[in-house]
Order: sequence, then C-alpha cells, then structure tokens
Amino acid sequence: MIEGFVRRDGELCAGSVPLGRLAGDYGTPVFVYSGGAVRAAYRAYDAALGPLGVRVCYAVKANGNQAILRLLAGEGAGMDVVSAGEMTRCLAAGVPADRIVFSGVGKTREELDRAVAAGVHQINVESVPELEALSAAAVAAGTTMPIAIRINPDVDARTHAKITTGRKENKFGIDASVARGVFHRAHALPGIDPCGIALHIGSQLTDLAPYRDAYAVMADLATTLRGEGIAIARLDLGGGIGIRYRDETPIALADYAAVIRETVGDLGCEMMVEPGRSLVGNAGALLARVVYVKPGDSRTFLILDAAMNDLIRPTLYEAWHDIVPVRDRGCGPATYDIVGPVCESGDTFATRRAMPAVEPGDVVAILSAGAYGAVMGSTYNARPLPPELLVDGDRVAVVRRRQTLDDLLALEAVPAWLA
Ligand code: LLP
Repeated sequence: MIEGFVRRDGELCAGSVPLGRLAGDYGTPVFVYSGGAVRAAYRAYDAALGPLGVRVCYAVKANGNQAILRLLAGEGAGMDVVSAGEMTRCLAAGVPADRIVFSGVGKTREELDRAVAAGVHQINVESVPELEALSAAAVAAGTTMPIAIRINPDVDARTHAKITTGRKENKFGIDASVARGVFHRAHALPGIDPCGIALHIGSQLTDLAPYRDAYAVMADLATTLRGEGIAIARLDLGGGIGIRYRDETPIALADYAAVIRETVGDLGCEMMVEPGRSLVGNAGALLARVVYVKPGDSRTFLILDAAMNDLIRPTLYEAWHDIVPVRDRGCGPATYDIVGPVCESGDTFATRRAMPAVEPGDVVAILSAGAYGAVMGSTYNARPLPPELLVDGDRVAVVRRRQTLDDLLALEAVPAWLA
C-alpha cells in the first residue's frame, strides 16, 4: 500500500485514524494528508543528499498548505516559491526568509521588490529583462541580491509533455548556449550577484539519465564561468523526482545522490534541490463518497461527490490515480468508469477501472493526491473548495476548512446599475 496509508482490519488508515471515520466526521470530498509520510519523505531526502551538502528546498507549488510548510520547515527544509503568494504563505507559516528561494519565469517588478524586501536567500532569474528589473529593484532597496540564473540545458526529461521544462522549445530558463553572455551581463549590473546556476528539467521523472546530462552541462558552465572571473558558488539542481502512482519504479535517492556527486559534487558549491511531488504526493488522498452507481449499455459509471475541480490531474494529464474503497467489504471485483458530477465528459477519474465492487454511500480514496491536488483546485460548477485535514499519529486537524457558498459569493458584486 501507498506510504502513509495502511490497511488495518480492512480499514484504510492515515496514521492510526481510519479514513472512513474522517469522511463521516468532516464530510466528503476531503483531502487527507499523513504528516508521518511527509516527514518520512523529507528525512529520506535529507539522509541521502544532506551528506553531499545539498539542502532540500520544498517546491511549495505542490501543496502550499501552511501546515505542510510548517511541518517541513520544522524538519529543516528550505522552500522554493514561484510567486509572491507562495512567499507570503511561507512567511506566514514561520519559514525564515533566508531559507526561501524565489523561482519563476514571469516575476513582476512588484514581486521582485517584495522578495528583495523580505530578504530571501536567492532569486532564480530566467531572462535578461528580469535581470534588469531585479537589478533596479535591488539598487532601489540599497542591497545586493544573490541570484542564480536558470539555464535550459536542452535535455529531454522523457515525461509528460505538459510537465517537461528543459527543452529548447519550453519557455523556461536561458539556453545553455547563450548563458555565458547572460552571466557576464549580470556581473556588470549593480545590485545583483550572479553566484548561482539553476535548472529544472521536468516533473515525474523516473529515469536518471536526463539529470546526469543536465548536471554535466551545469558543471561545464560553472567551470567556464569561474575561469572567466565569475565566482559560481551555488547550484540549484531542480526538482522532479517521480513517485509511484501505478507501477512506476521511482528513482532511488541513493542513485540520485550518486549522480549529483559524480557530476557536480567536486565543485565545492552550496547545493540545493527543489522537490515537490516526491515529498507530499503519496502522503495525500482525496476521499469521496459514491453518490450513484449507474449501469450503462457498455459500462457502469461510479458517480462520486468529488470532481475534476477537486483533482484535475486525471483529465489534464491523463494521470493515473489508484482508487480504492476505504473499507474492504470483501465484495467481488467490478469494473467502473469513475466520474464526478461536473458537466463535462472530462470529469473522469478513471475509465474501465477494475476495483472491488462498491455501493452508494461507500467512501473511496483517490490516492497519491497530496501533490498538485488541492493547489490546482477550482470552484467550477460553483463547487466550494474541499477541506484539508492533517493526520499525525492519532491527531487530526482541519488545516483548511471547507469553503462555504457564502465564501464563494462574498467575492462578487452586482453593479448598482443592475440592481
Ligand atoms: N522546481 C521548479 C522550477 C518547478 O517548475 C517544479 C515543478 C518543481 C521544482 C517541482 O517539481 P516536482 O518535484 O514536484 O516534480 N501540475 C503537474 C506538475 C507541474 C510541475 C511544475 N513544476 C502535475 O500535477 O503533474
């Protein structure tokens, strides 16, 4: 069974708490996170990479709930953020600013001003115009910002097209072939210290070869730049280690560590990685209740009370998520198209999925929903955002309450001329 969720006496549990009880107490749909699983994932990273001097900066985009941020910060993690919003979340959760790395392809001047004012550890810059904007922001604030320049190493991460980022045709980073010139441009600008190289080649990688290729490009560039008088002292190695959703064999962290050691390990740099999914993905589940079982001509639809607005990954990336009854009632096998109530055919979690038979009222867990689940949610079809629960051992906390319809309506206004 997936990390963090184990079956005891036929009941799927988070920590020692049965998921069926949580569904009853807090309603469905609801996200449940296992604090123990997040902690274990972080500790595995730290054990494998810490000895190489690599700091783990959690990619907040995967799951930005403040409770998750606080838990990880308490373990010693830094944070990788891509917006002023994510930075604000981290600061609100008590993450020290000097542990925050600010990445992102389109930071606005206002965001740069805020990052400089907060005193983040590093800003990762992705274009020449951004360099100029940041230089101006830092000069205006009377400071010098340590920056890394994100290069695009043009390697194929061999992952889903929508989450591959390290090819020339992707919008991210600066082509490795022209990066030298950009470093020199940065070196000449006031207010910024181009001391780092950053890259991130994609997400849900299950193969180490693209990392090896990309880090080799990084090492070459670092050596060249040092020879030209630019003191490269930091390397941001990106995130992207994949998890097991179905039958993938995830990269072993010890093997990842070996690649880092062999490619960039002897440069004497401060290093960091930015994993998101692999810290929280398998630590979360989305619980949903079966509303109807609807037999059709050629298939049987299992209609849940969760939908594509709660978890968009299946429809956006054709992603597989295991879906299991939280209580094993020993019913025989069945095959379902598992769908939500939203008015789109794309509102489908799985097609022709074999699973134990269930009945209306039963609760199912959609697994591996801890990363890119709640954060990508919307209120489409005027469906309020579901709550998020954190379970730690036998403790349960509501770490985001369920949105109410009043919350939803409160942001809107009808103009006076229509009143
Ligand atoms: N660093 C940067 C610069 C990134 O763009 C990303 C993810 C990460 C780190 C973390 O990658 P991870 O370790 O989580 O793979 N919504 C998609 C994934 C989008 C990833 C975007 N960038 C999904 O649900 O699969």
